[in-house]
Amino acid sequence: MIRVFENTDICSRNSFKVHQQAAKIIEFDSNDELSQIFAEHIHGEWMVMGGANNILFTTDIATPIIVPCNKDIEVISEGSEQVIIRVGAGLEWDELVEWCVARELWGLENLSLIPGKVGASPVQNIGAYGAEAKDCITAVEMYFPEQNNFITLAAEHCNFGYRESVFKHTLKGRVIITAVIFHLSKVANPRLGYGDVEREVESRGGATLRNIREAVCAIRRAKLPDTAVTGNAGSFFKNPIVDSAVAQVLLAHYPQMPHYPTAEPDKVKLAAGWLIDQCGLKGYSEGNVGVHDRQALVLINTTGEATGSEVIAFAGKVQQRVKEKFGITIEMEVNIV
Ligand code: EPU
Repeated sequence: MIRVFENTDICSRNSFKVHQQAAKIIEFDSNDELSQIFAEHIHGEWMVMGGANNILFTTDIATPIIVPCNKDIEVISEGSEQVIIRVGAGLEWDELVEWCVARELWGLENLSLIPGKVGASPVQNIGAYGAEAKDCITAVEMYFPEQNNFITLAAEHCNFGYRESVFKHTLKGRVIITAVIFHLSKVANPRLGYGDVEREVESRGGATLRNIREAVCAIRRAKLPDTAVTGNAGSFFKNPIVDSAVAQVLLAHYPQMPHYPTAEPDKVKLAAGWLIDQCGLKGYSEGNVGVHDRQALVLINTTGEATGSEVIAFAGKVQQRVKEKFGITIEMEVNIV
């Protein structure tokens, strides 16, 4: 079914809970409806929105917003070790993780409780606790309005990287992701190497899928704000990737600075949250915006009244402080509209 909403406040539809007006929101359930939507409702630019957990709206939106709502999970094939599933773009990500854990299927458990919809997961290749969506994505299905056809793009052509994919570059604004195909494993493959995960899993009795999911949920609940209570967009900044030489200079001054290897031997990933924290900004706020007091990588709508432009101005100050203290530029992870 196609549902059209005109001149609506998008406050309840974006995780930062900013108030902006959308001229037209078009929800759809089935792929068959896309040609009709483009014939009847789209006469120029358009954009896609999932749960808007990673979008910060700074103005009212005249462009029609398309919202995929298909939530189906379909088993495409099942072997002795692997299961392939197709998942509708509109399903809540964490419902998919729970579906997998309940069926003893390994792969997505470390990504428990990441807010957002399945259709958004390949766009920024969501990741947490040593796992990324790309580890389990086989292919992505999408509608291509320019040709009025559907395309299935194999994972190897999605150019996945750290919070990166082709959907942020050449395919940006050109496709509507309708479903994601995942491969999951029946063979246990616990990944406990990141931070507190192993300790939390052990305290629950060992590395079962259920224990890993519960451990990750507990760690996230302790550090990250609950979007239902406090508007936020998860990590507001990306962790910066710098030349090893730059990291070495900083490490000489700050031997305790967290740093992680990357796929490229001469590049090192730093923790933006640590850098912001070291600037003394954790828990700091101005007006309606602040740095979360338990995770400095997260900016929050402290009063519920923040506007998008206020958040951007505050983020700019945070970037400037980090630049002044460390000489490092931290980029926003959140998409600005
Ligand atoms: N740190 C501080 N102070 C802070 C925050 C972090 O000192 O206020 C230090 C931590 O102690 C740790 C390091 O910085 O040594 C890294 O922090 P953490 O392990 O909490 O993870 P992160 O790098 O800040 C990334 C993802 C998160 C993901 C976690 C866990 C990015 C931009 N963020 O955060 O993703 O949940 O790892 O894997 O890569 C998201 O994208 O919305 C998100 C929450």
